Amino acid sequence: MTDATTGVRRYRPDDDEQLYALLEREGAEWKDYWHGGGWARYQRALTSSVVFVLFEDDELCGYVRCRDDDGFGVYVHDLLVDRSHRGKHHGRALLDHVCEHWPDETVYVMSDVDPYYEKLGYSKEGSIFVAHASGVA
Ligand SMILES: CC(C)(COP(=O)(O)OP(=O)(O)OC[C@H]1O[C@@H](n2cnc3c(N)ncnc32)[C@H](O)[C@@H]1OP(=O)(O)O)[C@@H](O)C(=O)NCCC(=O)NCCS
Repeated sequence: MTDATTGVRRYRPDDDEQLYALLEREGAEWKDYWHGGGWARYQRALTSSVVFVLFEDDELCGYVRCRDDDGFGVYVHDLLVDRSHRGKHHGRALLDHVCEHWPDETVYVMSDVDPYYEKLGYSKEGSIFVAHASGVA
């Protein structure tokens, strides 16, 4: 058995089938992105964001979605690694790729898992409040 070749590249719309399947496998916590009308909205968000996908051979194992605030920092909105591929430093590789893509920008992460980013050695700066909930399910 040979080791899989791992690589990170920019997302393309033809990744959608594998990306949708990854989100669906993740279940309820990521439901806003794949369930019902959420998927069409999320496809628009993917297209207007900078997204990198990580493959092992032809299998999409994870992705990261970011937005560039035009010289005022890059914001990582989503980071997801497939359950069956966790613990292989794929999350770290995706985030490293983001930092390497914007060497002159500060990269911020919208965290739902502070211990992970602390483990990666990131420093905490500020927090997020909900001023108004959309009501969109
Ligand atoms: C969080 C997540 C992206 C981590 O992906 P991963 O590829 O398994 O993580 P890595 O292999 O890069 O982990 C790097 C290090 O962090 C550790 N780590 C992984 N998950 C961790 C967690 N939740 N808390 C603390 N440490 C964690 C790993 O053990 C590893 O340690 P090591 O360097 O000593 O080996 C993945 O678990 C995931 O997709 N979770 C669901 C979605 C999510 O929570 N996304 C992030 C918030 S938006």
